[in-house]
Amino acid sequence: MRPVLIALLLASVSAPAFAQDEFKALPAGDGRAETVKVCSQCHSPELVANQRMDEPGWRAMVNQMANNGAQGTDAEFETIIKYLTQTFPPN
Ligand code: HEC
Repeated sequence: MRPVLIALLLASVSAPAFAQDEFKALPAGDGRAETVKVCSQCHSPELVANQRMDEPGWRAMVNQMANNGAQGTDAEFETIIKYLTQTFPPN
């Protein structure tokens, strides 16, 4: 294998964990980046894709995670609630 190919392969292995294609269960959208950042501190952020809820439901879930110890600013939590409500609404 040519050295330049090896260098490319190594570069793709060390791509940041928040690369867009890492968590396939999370569609693109405003707030996706915040969700990945704040909600992957303890478990996979893809856990959220197993749930369908309205805004109060997601708000309660995010508050519960903040009580668990999730680290984020108020603005980040609001953005996450909006993303989750838009992306995973009730069935
Ligand atoms: C400080 C650690 C921590 C962070 C950060 C965190 N969680 Fe969690 N999460 C947990 C723990 C512990 C559980 C399992 C127990 C529970 O449900 O509280 C869990 C479970 C969940 C579940 C499954 C609940 C169920 O009943 O099946 C969802 C959905 C979830 N988290 C969403 C989120 C979202 C959204 C965020 C970002 C706002 C987040 N989590 C950030 C600790 C965390």
